[in-house]
Amino acid sequence: MLIEHNSNRDSWKVDRDMMHLPMHATLPDGRHITIDTITDGQISDMYSLIVAAAVNGHGFGVDEYPTEKDFRKEVDGYPSFVLCGKECGKMIGAFSLIDSKFYRGTENKLVDPIIIVKKSERGKGIGDFIFRQVVLFSKRLGFTGIYTDTFSNNHAMMKIIERCPGFQRVGHFPLGGKMPDGTLVGANLYFKDLRNISEDNTLG
Ligand SMILES: CC(C)(COP(=O)(O)OP(=O)(O)OC[C@H]1O[C@@H](n2cnc3c(N)ncnc32)[C@H](O)[C@@H]1OP(=O)(O)O)[C@@H](O)C(=O)NCCC(=O)NCCS
Repeated sequence: MLIEHNSNRDSWKVDRDMMHLPMHATLPDGRHITIDTITDGQISDMYSLIVAAAVNGHGFGVDEYPTEKDFRKEVDGYPSFVLCGKECGKMIGAFSLIDSKFYRGTENKLVDPIIIVKKSERGKGIGDFIFRQVVLFSKRLGFTGIYTDTFSNNHAMMKIIERCPGFQRVGHFPLGGKMPDGTLVGANLYFKDLRNISEDNTLG
């Protein structure tokens, strides 16, 4: 297990050496990027991207994280990562691996990922790429499985999850979140078991 975890989430510490960070990778469009642990300043940038997505009805509820403090309360102490262009150093996307509330207990650690791609970078296969890193990092960090829920109007995210090997849809929440026009949207819940697969086989 590459993270230490006690009951206090602030004790989650990512071993950057064992996680091979910073990690260098190539996006589907051929651009070189680095993935690394997020900095404090980049958490603010991630929050800004999430707010912009929420006000456009993309992936997050308008009242999900009313302030940056609320968002920080959600992610602080959990492993969070950022993708940046290798040359420009600018953030392209980010993901946080927070504890899922759907597992009640301390023996197993189920992850609930938060994923965001910068608006100008969407539709280039980056969300798909990030989701695969989510699975890989979750396994590498010692999580038991992944619970991820996504709004039922988030067609890109549903496509990404449903074609990722090993995910099964396990439920639907009639009330998932609030859209900018005040309507409520449902959410679909998916699960992937990470217990009996090796890191090399996390993606089938
Ligand atoms: C959801 C999100 C992460 C997807 O990232 P992305 O980089 O745009 O996704 P990809 O380019 O990898 O696209 C994945 C698939 O969805 C499809 N897709 C993209 N946008 C779509 C849309 N609006 N409607 C339907 N399909 C869509 C793509 O065509 C692609 O399928 P393909 O490979 O068969 O062509 C990104 O849109 C985002 O950050 N949204 C706001 C935040 C959010 O929703 N986070 C997830 C919360 S659960």
